[in-house]
Amino acid sequence: MVTGATSGIGYITARELAHRGATVILCARNPEKARLKTDEIIQATSNPNVEFCIADLSIQSQVRKLAQDIHTRFQHLDVLVNNAGAFFLRHKLSQDGIEITFALNHLSYFLLTNLLLPIIKGSAPSRIVNVSSNGHYRANLEIKNLEELNSYRAMQAYANSKLANILFTYELARRLEGTQITVNALHPGFTKTNIGKNNGFLVKLLYPLIFRKGINAAKGAETSIYLACSEEVTGISGKYFVKKKPVKSSKVSYNLITAQSLWKISEELTGFNS
Ligand SMILES: NC(=O)c1ccc[n+]([C@@H]2O[C@H](COP(=O)([O-])OP(=O)(O)OC[C@H]3O[C@@H](n4cnc5c(N)ncnc54)[C@H](OP(=O)(O)O)[C@@H]3O)[C@@H](O)[C@H]2O)c1
Repeated sequence: MVTGATSGIGYITARELAHRGATVILCARNPEKARLKTDEIIQATSNPNVEFCIADLSIQSQVRKLAQDIHTRFQHLDVLVNNAGAFFLRHKLSQDGIEITFALNHLSYFLLTNLLLPIIKGSAPSRIVNVSSNGHYRANLEIKNLEELNSYRAMQAYANSKLANILFTYELARRLEGTQITVNALHPGFTKTNIGKNNGFLVKLLYPLIFRKGINAAKGAETSIYLACSEEVTGISGKYFVKKKPVKSSKVSYNLITAQSLWKISEELTGFNS
């Protein structure tokens, strides 16, 4: 299952997993786009086992409904790729009243993964792949000011959410030790996708300039695909990958107290108790 599978890195990841013969679930927020992209993948790969499910992942009730839907419709979930994400230039609250970058980029990974753990556990050996970013090196994650409600800075909010992806990955890997479920994070590379295009006319206009040195989505998806299905990473968990290699993430990403505080805050904000 790949979230954010209607565009960019997520779309290529879903398509390439289907190409390798997997049954693939595209997770999308827009039903028309989901159907279109599913059909496109079936046509391109001749693999009929491609399905979709719908959720706006910034809304917790929809994440819960999605998890229920997956448990009802499927017997196995071998690989979950948490990929859906966005950059928000202006401060905005989610429907649940949480700063939207944090709600979508981190809390949806946290809540969806935890809700899907029963089916993922039942499918072990299984894998969880979290798409983060090297933007996390610029994070300044203050646990008490996580929601960025007062002094919103878009790059900071994005960087913080991507650090949260890695803290979550490492903490979950510790909690899943001995279960045959691996969980890893990655940076896809600076990739020409639709990211940021939700921020209006000016960003769209500057887009070719901003991404002039970006790699294409096929290249950007390589590490996600590698972590989802390569035998080389069997049993490897709790790592951060760039260009298909484990590398060191930022110093703070290894801080156990920060990871545990983030976990606790994420539980409080989602109402999920592990
Ligand atoms: N591009 C880069 O340079 C870069 C670098 C580092 C990390 N990343 C990370 O890579 C991941 C994928 O991004 P991308 O570059 O491929 O961007 P993208 O082309 O904009 O794709 C983002 C995907 O997320 C979906 N999405 C956005 N908001 C959603 C919501 N509220 N609910 C459900 N789905 C939602 C989008 O759906 P729609 O099609 O409906 O919009 C789309 O399928 C993100 O986590 C991003 O932070 C990207």
